[in-house]
Amino acid sequence: MTVLVTGVAGFIGSNLAEYLLEKGETVVGIDNFSPYYAKKLKQHNLTTIPKSKNFIFIEVDLTETNAMQTKVFKKYKIDAIVNLAGWAGVTECHKQPLTYVYNNTFGVVNLLELAKDFGIYKFLQAGTSSQYGDLPIPWNEETQTTTPPQIYAASKASAELFGYSYYRNYGINFTAMRFFNVYGPRQRPEMALPMLFKSHLLKRPFPQYQDLNKTGRDYTYVKDICDGIYKITQKELGYQQINLGNGNPQTLQDLISATEKVIGAKIDLKRMEERIGEAEVTYCDNTKAKKLIGFNPEYDINSGVKEQYEWFIAQPDWYTLEKY
Ligand SMILES: NC(=O)c1ccc[n+]([C@@H]2O[C@H](COP(=O)([O-])OP(=O)(O)OC[C@H]3O[C@@H](n4cnc5c(N)ncnc54)[C@H](O)[C@@H]3O)[C@@H](O)[C@H]2O)c1
Repeated sequence: MTVLVTGVAGFIGSNLAEYLLEKGETVVGIDNFSPYYAKKLKQHNLTTIPKSKNFIFIEVDLTETNAMQTKVFKKYKIDAIVNLAGWAGVTECHKQPLTYVYNNTFGVVNLLELAKDFGIYKFLQAGTSSQYGDLPIPWNEETQTTTPPQIYAASKASAELFGYSYYRNYGINFTAMRFFNVYGPRQRPEMALPMLFKSHLLKRPFPQYQDLNKTGRDYTYVKDICDGIYKITQKELGYQQINLGNGNPQTLQDLISATEKVIGAKIDLKRMEERIGEAEVTYCDNTKAKKLIGFNPEYDINSGVKEQYEWFIAQPDWYTLEKY
């Protein structure tokens, strides 16, 4: 199968490309090196994907219809699209809302149009647990996501609605994958774990935005996420929303303790003002994913943090580059 992976130079995209190649699939990966964080880190991600004739990288912006046609769809016969390209981040989105809407909503419709025109009937879309916002936990897919707590979640929720139109009218199998707090090697540098590692390595305090014991995140290791995505590419599921999350939330204190155990040192904290748009707790009910695709997350917080730290300390760019 040839899979188009958008956002392939990013965190989840580069991990997914590797995972699919290991499974024997061909990957056409695209990315525009958006300025959300340093291009150097994304270029590095690409260089670590094993060289293979089954991996093709194309620098292109998914919102540019003509370029997508000529550089991608007219050149390669694509069987499935995994759309990970987009602008992530529940706090950054308040600074540039239009960029989020343009890339995360217009970009998806552009890609759906191309899928329709080029006869591609499998479309997997990256959604987010943020769509559930402040609703009572745990969250399953029946939970209505009509009250997104920020522009980022709203952009992802609307992408799902467009997906439904293309399923209904053109028969495109559309799965909205709602990811929960993904972590692991190549994680975006502004996220908590890279910041914790960086605090330790650069000997400076960790900016603590939330309550240590009230805040919970359903941290899900990137390999488990990639396995879930792979399993969805192997099926024709019609129109679905599927939670991909560990199902076992940890407090911020738990995350810090797991990190301190791995690095063998205490981390200094600096209490910051809370930021708008963040949920207090994220909690995945992954029953549907288990039933429908055999999703089976294998990593717990201790094994995941250990693997990520071992990777991190071997990547000086990750902690010496100031500009994210
Ligand atoms: N990491 C998480 O915990 C998490 C949780 C929920 C949802 N998601 C979603 O998963 C996807 C991947 O997240 P990530 O953490 O790997 O982020 P990332 O920023 O590392 O990767 C996204 C990639 O998309 C590329 N991109 C952005 N706009 C583009 C465009 N117009 N054309 C081509 N490429 C473009 C970026 O350059 C980047 O490399 C995102 O859609 C994000 O919203 C991530």
